[in-house]
Amino acid sequence: MSRTTIRDLQTRYESGEPITMLTAYDAPIARQVDRGGVDAILVGDSAGDNHMGYDDTLPVTLEEALSNTAAVDRAVDDALVIGDMPFLSYGTSIAESVENAGRFMKEAGADAVKLETAPYGETTIEIVDRCTELGIPVQGHIGYTPQRNNEIGGAFVQGKDRDVSAGMQALVDTAEELVAAGAFSIVLETVSEAAAKAVTEAVDVPTIGIGAGRYVDGQVLVTNDVIGLSGESFKLSKQYADLDSKIRSAVEAYVADVESGEFPTGEHAFEPIDEE
Ligand code: KIV
Repeated sequence: MSRTTIRDLQTRYESGEPITMLTAYDAPIARQVDRGGVDAILVGDSAGDNHMGYDDTLPVTLEEALSNTAAVDRAVDDALVIGDMPFLSYGTSIAESVENAGRFMKEAGADAVKLETAPYGETTIEIVDRCTELGIPVQGHIGYTPQRNNEIGGAFVQGKDRDVSAGMQALVDTAEELVAAGAFSIVLETVSEAAAKAVTEAVDVPTIGIGAGRYVDGQVLVTNDVIGLSGESFKLSKQYADLDSKIRSAVEAYVADVESGEFPTGEHAFEPIDEE
């Protein structure tokens, strides 16, 4: 079976079926996320804090993002694989942005890329236009955009028409401009439910929410939060398993077995010595 395409996502959207998306940063998790049946896998720059031990997404390099994406690509059969362009791998010049976006497809096997856009962000909107003209599908990302955290001043809910928040109209206008430039979908992160609804009604491509409430066309979450591998819980997320404690129990059991001599037994040895 071939992978989900952006056309398949559009078909799901047009038939009113919710779209599912989760993150993955390596092959073992990507394999399970793919077998679990999501439509799309985002190799997010959230790898920075969830996978690579950084404090946030800003230090993630292009080479690290490409390496994560290639690992996910090797494990995925069915889902659309979206490579997330890290901080300053786009935006400094149009040519470099397009070249870097192309590397996600040529070198890492991504089917599309995602990039964050500030309210009315002219540069990124032009990059989307150039990429899509050349055949690189782009997913937009508006609302709270973590790469601009220092500029925004924190993870404030967007679309609330307050000082620390891009206004609802700015989000709607930016989404419309991204779609006019060719974006096949828009991620809405940490926005008021009303603003998410307004954007969803304004555009004719799927909106994918994270902390955007109910009136969007699909949902994305960080898999580490979903499976309980992040040591934290967030209002916008839902935890379905507790792998942190499962992994720790397994490690403790292994340590206890080795220390007590329970492991290894003759069963784990090659040509074991027969002990009478
Ligand atoms: O990097 C990421 O995981 C993301 C999602 C939160 C949408 O951008």
